[in-house]
Amino acid sequence: MNKAIVLTGITTTGTPHLGNYVGAIRPAIAASKNANVTPFYFLADYHALIKCQEPEKVRLSSLEIAATWLAFGLDTSNAVFYRQSDVPEIMELTWLLTCVTAKGLMNRAHAYKAAVADNELSNENDPDKGITMGLFSYPILMAADILMFNANKVPVGKDQIQHIEMARDIAGRFNHIYGDHFALPEAVIDDNTATLAGLDGRKMSKSYNNTIPLFEPEKKLKKLINKIKTNSLEPGEPKDPEGCSLFGIYQAFATPSEVAEIRQRYAQGISWGEMKQVLFDYINDHITPARERYEALMQAPQHIEEQLQEGAQKARAISVPFIKRLRESVGISRIAP
Ligand code: TRP
Repeated sequence: MNKAIVLTGITTTGTPHLGNYVGAIRPAIAASKNANVTPFYFLADYHALIKCQEPEKVRLSSLEIAATWLAFGLDTSNAVFYRQSDVPEIMELTWLLTCVTAKGLMNRAHAYKAAVADNELSNENDPDKGITMGLFSYPILMAADILMFNANKVPVGKDQIQHIEMARDIAGRFNHIYGDHFALPEAVIDDNTATLAGLDGRKMSKSYNNTIPLFEPEKKLKKLINKIKTNSLEPGEPKDPEGCSLFGIYQAFATPSEVAEIRQRYAQGISWGEMKQVLFDYINDHITPARERYEALMQAPQHIEEQLQEGAQKARAISVPFIKRLRESVGISRIAP
């Protein structure tokens, strides 16, 4: 039986934080050890350029993200772990797909529409002000990432569902014109993966600047956890765990019986100071072994690079012959052998 291809990309802007870990990294590492699937995980560095024009940031983020995934024990013997830009066939495919994608489809993309809405709100004359073609056609690049490897399942956050649907549309259009080349991908949304609250109580996200980076040194981690916003209930007063950021984060790490115990301590009026200590100890214990590996990896970028090159080789063993076939299907090939 052919193994299912599971594929997901991580945009290389920013430093991985606790929210990324429970939402994406942890489930992906678990899946990398599942022998029934072939996971493709890649650093989406071309996607990074859409949001970030600071070369050093993109470079550092690629390094940090790769080191993070390896530090948590990504099984690179089963998973194909690579950098998008090391597979130039993805860019070639992007153009082939661009030429069958209706502009109207892109007009409907959420990210583009949100940028236009922002301009309209600020009474801009030009609704497209500040919007690059990169942002506008971003769903096509993402479709190429997915279709290049005929991925069946694409684990993503809810905000990305529309992009997977667009990839299906684009694949269908290409298949209709040029023959059956692409599998139609499906989004996989895991409702069980937690979304963590950040320092200010809103969803933990780079864009809110409220994150707790994964591999802060202990002292810094402690400081950040102490900063998480709580209400003003006094020690001894019963507290409601539902909707409490500290509890939500604890729940994403601890076992069900540990969570039940903390729930009781909330009812008994645990102080916020104590709860913060409990949370810090738990997360710190959980993360310390990976943090040590991470620090070692950051000192050995050569090792990380080797892993990525190996991944790129595995990926290109597929993409090189596939793009050749796709080019031929659209009428681009040598005139004589
Ligand atoms: N756009 C995705 C995000 O911001 C990252 C990404 C790029 C991706 N290419 C992909 C995810 C292909 C899944 C499949 O989260």
